[in-house]
Formats: sequence, structure tokens, C-alpha cells
Amino acid sequence: MILITGGTGFIGSHIAVACLAAGKQVVLFDNLSNSNIEIIDTLEKITHQQVSFIRGDVLDQDLLTTTMQDFGVDEVIHCAGLKSVPESVDNPLRYYLNNVQGSLCLLRAMQTCEVKTIVFSSSATVYGMPSYLPYDEAHPTNPMNPYGSTKLHVEQMLRELAQSDHSMKIMCLRYFNPVGAHESGLIGENPKGIPNNLMPYITRVAQGELPYLNIYGTDYPTKDGTGERDYIHVMDLAEGHVMALDYLKSHPGYGVVNLGTGRPYTVFDLVNTFQEISGKTIPYEIAPRRNGDLSSYFANPSLAKQIMGYETKRDLKSMCASAWSFQNQLDIQ
Ligand code: WQD
Repeated sequence: MILITGGTGFIGSHIAVACLAAGKQVVLFDNLSNSNIEIIDTLEKITHQQVSFIRGDVLDQDLLTTTMQDFGVDEVIHCAGLKSVPESVDNPLRYYLNNVQGSLCLLRAMQTCEVKTIVFSSSATVYGMPSYLPYDEAHPTNPMNPYGSTKLHVEQMLRELAQSDHSMKIMCLRYFNPVGAHESGLIGENPKGIPNNLMPYITRVAQGELPYLNIYGTDYPTKDGTGERDYIHVMDLAEGHVMALDYLKSHPGYGVVNLGTGRPYTVFDLVNTFQEISGKTIPYEIAPRRNGDLSSYFANPSLAKQIMGYETKRDLKSMCASAWSFQNQLDIQ
């Protein structure tokens, strides 16, 4: 039985679908701060399987412990956490409480219940300013914001836990930029309020909810001057978590792996591809660079392939088409 913290969120819900599709059982644990309870019914509709859900906060160590005991949890995928870079700059202690203290509560509950396997949702933001590109897992880690710092602190906690207890099976997955939606169009990225991230902003412009896209900076040293990122389809990302759990079954200890495509795209690449697949025009305004944004970053994905046989399968068109399909389904609801 897999406990997925943050399991009703954008990433967590897609991981739940991938786990269920692989014949695994899941119990989702979420405080619903950035998601809705209706997602449970939707997940059961997609998978035709029962999905258990516990409403709770990862700071509630006792509830985590009783949930693990009640459901016979033997593996954990930890997605619960705050993830806005600008918000973390304004309120670092809130990020340390939720992301670091929350992870500590989870690990202590696992220790009480003798649960030895955890896959942690980490982030490429732990790398910070690139010393070289693409980022490989040996790249120095110098996060440039509190969000990235909290992810690195949790990685360090996990690494030292594995050093102290050799029976632990721990994998940190460093995400690049997850986008897109499940092919059903029934789940996807639906942040509350105005989206920070590029793809959900584009889909809301296409749907008419927002008037135009702000393009933050066209003076970066990239092919068209706009920021370049390694966008990965959220279902590719989700399937990477199932592969990580399977890998850990025969590989105890501690590991860190990038989850990215290795293929960078600029903002205009995304806008043009989205326009092509949706038939919609995305009006935009050029705006100043966003504080904290890097010019370009993308993954060296070779370690995931080497140790887990993992490769991404879905291209940029599929990412855009699935995101647009989800937005359209949202409007029907
Ligand atoms: C992508 C590009 C922007 C919005 C975020 C999170 C980070 C990580 C990955 C979890 C940049 C440009 C964006 C807009 C724009 N998540 N942009 N107009 O900043 O790379 O990272 O996702 O680990 O924590 O911060 O993603 O989608 O915000 O930006 O021009 O309205 O699009 O400048 O070049 P980012 P993003």
C-alpha cells in the first residue's frame, strides 16, 4: 500500500493514476490547501478502482502514524509541500515549517511504523545558478531561494537517515518543469488564483479567462531571448515515480535522480506549439524579467535511464494538447 502525501494535488493525483495503472494500491493524504476533494471521485472514474483518502496535514505526525497503521502502508511517495518560489522569498519560515518540518513528521511516523521506502518529490531548483548545462546529479547544489533550500534540506535529512539506517530505501527525484495532463482530460494543473507557472497561464488566456500572457524578459541569451526550460509531461513524471519504487525494491540506500527530458524549450516555443495544437491565438505583452528567474536550465536525463531504464515518452505537442484538453473540460464542469 502506497501513501501519497499531497495526493490530490497536480503531481500527486497523476502519480496516483500511474500507481493504480501499475496494479498498486494507494491511500492519498492531503490537507486540500491547493486541491479539491472532488478529485477522489475523478480518480476512481479514471481508474475504475477505489481510492482511499485521508484529509490531513503532514505536520500532524499522529495522524500520519495512524494512517500508516490503519492502511498497512509499506511505501511512501512524498509530494506534499509548498512550491512557489516568489512566495517562499516573502515567507521563508512558512516554507521551512511545511516542507522541512512536515517531512520530518512524515519520516518520524515512518520510523514508528517501520516503513522503509520513500520517494521524495525534489526539484531542479536545488541546483541554482548553472555551473554547466545540462544539469547532471553531480552538479553543485546552491539553491537561490528558500523553496529550493527546503528541498535541499530534506534531501540532506534523507541522505543522513539512509546513512544511519541501511535498511532504508530512499530516492529523491529532482523535477524539472512538469506540465500537461492525463489523457482523459479529467485531471490536470488547476492552481487556485492567478497561475505563477507558464502553461496554466497560457491555457487560461486561450480559454478567455485572462486577457494576455506576460512574457517575462526577451533579453536572455537564448535562441529567441525568452527563458528556456525542460518541460516534462506530468504523466512521464508520474510513471517515473512508479519506476523509482520498483527500483528501490532491489536497491536499498539513497539515490538522487533528475526527471526531465533533456530537451529545452523557450517561452515562444511553448506559445507557438500551443497555438498550433489549439488553433487559439495567445496575445502577449513583453514584460521585464521576473526576479529569481534563470535564463536557461535543463536536465541531463541519462542517470534515470542508466539505473531505472527510465525515458520520457511524450513530446511538447502532447504536453500542450493535454493541458488544453483539461482546460476545456474544466469549463464544461
Ligand atoms: C517558465 C518560464 C518564465 C509565467 C517553476 C517553479 C519551480 C519548479 C518548476 C517545482 C520562465 C516564463 C512564466 C508567465 C512567463 N516547480 N513565464 N510568463 O519558474 O521555471 O519554475 O516550475 O519544483 O519551483 O517555480 O516555471 O512556468 O513559472 O516559468 O514568461 O506568466 O516561463 O520567465 O522563463 P519556473 P514557470
